[in-house]
Amino acid sequence: NLIMKSSQSIGVLVPNIGNPFFSTFIKGVQTTARELKYIPLIFGANHDEKIESYYLEKMIERATGGMIIASASITTETIDSTLKKNEIPYLLMDQNPIVDGDRVQTNDILGGQLAAEHLIKLGHQKFVITMPNAPTANLLRRVEGFKLALTKNSISFEHAATIVYSPMTKAGGYQATKAVLASHATAVFAINDEMAIGLYKGMRQQNINVPTDISIIGYDNIDLDEYITPTLTTIQQPILEMGITATRLLVNRIKQPLIAPQVTELPVHLVERNSTAKPR
Ligand code: RIB
Repeated sequence: NLIMKSSQSIGVLVPNIGNPFFSTFIKGVQTTARELKYIPLIFGANHDEKIESYYLEKMIERATGGMIIASASITTETIDSTLKKNEIPYLLMDQNPIVDGDRVQTNDILGGQLAAEHLIKLGHQKFVITMPNAPTANLLRRVEGFKLALTKNSISFEHAATIVYSPMTKAGGYQATKAVLASHATAVFAINDEMAIGLYKGMRQQNINVPTDISIIGYDNIDLDEYITPTLTTIQQPILEMGITATRLLVNRIKQPLIAPQVTELPVHLVERNSTAKPR
């Protein structure tokens, strides 16, 4: 029988297919889905709640087996009125609000702490954090961790750290350059690697050398980090594994709808490369 039930499909909603974080994540989903004889359907929601709801509804109409939701704009109300109401198994990723149910996440507080500790150890005392102005909960936890590390080292977050708000993309990082330089910080914590890469361009245009004039640390450890100059110091998330785990847990849920909520937290690590150094 060549016709498969559509419930062999799983839907994957990500915010931004252009970010290598999500292409690596999807790679993990695809490999595992194939092994488990499911077919993943991937959607980029572009940070737009309407697009997100559209894909959700269409997937429900097609009686999808389940959904992996890695995009951020979904609300608890939408989850209740669409997925729960139609008894569609789903799994939430790190950007989503913490609600009951299956979930894959990393320790964002630790990630923020590791970033700050690395910069403090190098001797930095004045920091900028670049992040979007409507941050998801996981990004706020990174900032919380950063603040914790400063406090532990008797550095006042209020005095020593400035936040520059800009979209979490390469363009957003680039646009943040002037505000970053205006803060006179010696080190930047970019809330993801894409922003860090955008900042590289801005710094180059202003003749600011990374890392001798300013240190930059990113977050994610996307594959590009090793190929840019200087190579990017970052907090590594196990991105491929996040995709693999999400898919395994979702398929588990599809097969055994009544098991207890499955929550997996994967580790983060500091990866020291060449974009961070002692301040001048
Ligand atoms: O770069 C994309 C970001 O969105 C990552 O940091 C990841 O954790 C997700 O939340």
